[in-house]
Amino acid sequence: AFPQRYKFVVKEARYKRLCSSKNILTVNGKFPGPTLYAYRGDTVLVDVINKGKENITIHWHGVKLPRNPWSDGPEYVTQCPIKPGNNFSQKIIFSDEEGTLWWHAHSDWSRATVHGAIIIYPRPGSPYPFPKPYAEVPIILGEWWKEDVRVVFERFVRTGGQPNDSDAYTINGQPGDLYPCSKSGTFQLNVLHGKSYLFRMMNVAINEILFFAIKNHKLTVVGTDASYTKPLTRDYVAISPGQTLDILFFANQDPDYYYMAARPYVSAAIVSFDKSTTTGLVKYSGFRGPFSSQPPLLPFLPLFNDTSAAVNFSGSLRSLVSEDHSIDVPIKVNKRIKSTISINAFPCPNNKCEGPNGTRLAASMNNITFVKPSLDILEAYYYKIRGIFGDKFPKHPPFVFNYTTDILPLELEISKRGTQVRKIRYNSTVEVVFQGRNLVAGIDHPMHLHGYSFYVVGWGLGNFNKTKDPQSYNLVDPPRRNTVAVPKNGWTTIRFRANNPGVWLMHCHLERHLTWGMNAVFIVRNGKKNEEKILPPPPDMPPC
Ligand code: C2O
Ligand code: CU
Repeated sequence: AFPQRYKFVVKEARYKRLCSSKNILTVNGKFPGPTLYAYRGDTVLVDVINKGKENITIHWHGVKLPRNPWSDGPEYVTQCPIKPGNNFSQKIIFSDEEGTLWWHAHSDWSRATVHGAIIIYPRPGSPYPFPKPYAEVPIILGEWWKEDVRVVFERFVRTGGQPNDSDAYTINGQPGDLYPCSKSGTFQLNVLHGKSYLFRMMNVAINEILFFAIKNHKLTVVGTDASYTKPLTRDYVAISPGQTLDILFFANQDPDYYYMAARPYVSAAIVSFDKSTTTGLVKYSGFRGPFSSQPPLLPFLPLFNDTSAAVNFSGSLRSLVSEDHSIDVPIKVNKRIKSTISINAFPCPNNKCEGPNGTRLAASMNNITFVKPSLDILEAYYYKIRGIFGDKFPKHPPFVFNYTTDILPLELEISKRGTQVRKIRYNSTVEVVFQGRNLVAGIDHPMHLHGYSFYVVGWGLGNFNKTKDPQSYNLVDPPRRNTVAVPKNGWTTIRFRANNPGVWLMHCHLERHLTWGMNAVFIVRNGKKNEEKILPPPPDMPPC
């Protein structure tokens, strides 16, 4: 059995990477943080104790928390931050999740170091829908900054976006052999020839989608975002911030050692961009050498701007549909929402920019740049406190135009600031079409919804065509995810049944876009008499 209760002490600890050490914010002094284990359907309590110097909240990414938005974590959406010296006990209710998820801080950019894996096993006695692996291995893909991440974040806010690149990508917290002073720490996986390993992979990077591969080996994806998939065997995978993959790895090559590697996929032609590669090693045991090449060769990874490599991988994922793993894709839709997701460029007359905080750039959904309220939306909604949020998040983009062309009249680029939600009737079936745009630096946006998993029923490049495109929807075995990368200059349609009452954030999981306001909030109302309702709030909700 696994622990039913965990203690998460948020505190600083000193870590050395890339030849220098610094204090970072951690949970229990660990980087990456502790792993949470559960069986499907368990409930776990986590006592979060803030012994750091700043406000914090913790989010359980991809855990639906049925009827319990109180424990979800995004600051000023479902709770006020936990102040230094204060505690908050969060009740993590697992329902149908099975596989890999993760938890992370949901305040500013502190999730850069405050994160860890969540591993959810089938119910005791139930098998995996694939042959039992010999061992399981968490693979956490992340980033490292030499500077204090708070300084990076503050500069980002102050300057409106300049420069926010990390100094290294990491595998399980380690930059790997190609970075200075990193060789001794490189993550090494020792394998036995002939055995299979289940990788519990997550991308915790702040701002980059990543490609990952292992030299001479194939990777077989069997799950995404804690939902099983039909096995998909590839030479590489693409994974966006927020996403997780369960991957079977077969140690079936000549006993030797092989590099695993990850590096970013950046769809836009961004000038300042770190193209470096993080590595780890797979070493076969029992092998007496000599190794075939010294140093080992890197695996092939698609080029940093190879959009088709990224969409070919993600677009090939299919849900596992079997006796034990049925799917429930909404066929009829009650509520349609179309949302442009966009970066907005404000004019800067006389060198004074008119964007939020005096910046040139912002981000928006349906041209609304999300502004954090002074009290969390959940408490304002639950206690009927007025003046905190409005319910005017538009169902459609405010202007109809050719979304994927480059040049637009300036008035369309200027977003409105606001805290607007969209209310949804309990149990209605919802479809959201995300329409990407090519403004400024067009880039794929990994869109994440709290409180739900959704089916990705369709996607394409260019403008969404509402008569033609729905004909190509996959309503049979679409992948079920909580985060989907909407292609640059393209669209993606998701569907879900609104059966989890609460206040649920939806946002781009690139931290720079979230900070710029690419967020929206859904309020799913309570059901009627005998239907589901939001649970009462816990007694220790942190005050604002
Ligand atoms: Cu993984 Cu709103 O977050
Ligand atoms: Cu984005």
